[in-house]
Amino acid sequence: MHTFQTVPIEKLDMNPFEKIGKQWALVTAGDEKQCNTMTVSWGGVGVLWGKNVVYIFIRDSRYTKEFIDQGDTFSMAFLGEEYRQALSFCGAHSGRDTDKFAQAGLTLAFQNGIPYPDEAEMVFFCRKLAAVPVDKDTFTDPEILPKWYGDGDMHTMYVGEILQVFGR
Ligand SMILES: Cc1cc2nc3c(=O)[nH]c(=O)nc-3n(C[C@H](O)[C@H](O)[C@H](O)COP(=O)(O)O)c2cc1C
Repeated sequence: MHTFQTVPIEKLDMNPFEKIGKQWALVTAGDEKQCNTMTVSWGGVGVLWGKNVVYIFIRDSRYTKEFIDQGDTFSMAFLGEEYRQALSFCGAHSGRDTDKFAQAGLTLAFQNGIPYPDEAEMVFFCRKLAAVPVDKDTFTDPEILPKWYGDGDMHTMYVGEILQVFGR
């Protein structure tokens, strides 16, 4: 098990465009009995409803969505470049068919009951605040619907309050 330090949010030094969009992240949800992880590269960090938050976009078809919907919490974890293959794997296979932690060589750990990959270099532990379905009539730009939702597999935006940040 790695030793993490809790990082005060005001000490956080991150470029969300690089961190989420380029480095990617693993979103993990569930409990000690059953949980699942998946790769994400869409989302952000910010302030909503008076809280420091992350927001992620999860398509209806994702197995991970079932765990996010069932529980109150999830983690969003960032791993070093040496785990690129693991993230690619977790973004191309479903936990319905395989134990992704085992197959990707990741170690499942828990912080206050919230699952996360122990190999992470930084982890946001989050409490769900809102699940916002992205409807077909959401878009003011007419290009988005055909480009991203041609198959009808819509996203839900989950907003999570950042409860704790782990860093090294
Ligand atoms: C780089 C990358 C980024 C991804 N970003 C997202 C995302 O932001 N939202 C999403 O719903 N799926 C995203 N995916 C797809 C899921 O990770 C993928 O469908 C995964 O197999 C779902 O696993 P699950 O069914 O076990 O939940 C991404 C995949 C990759 C490779």
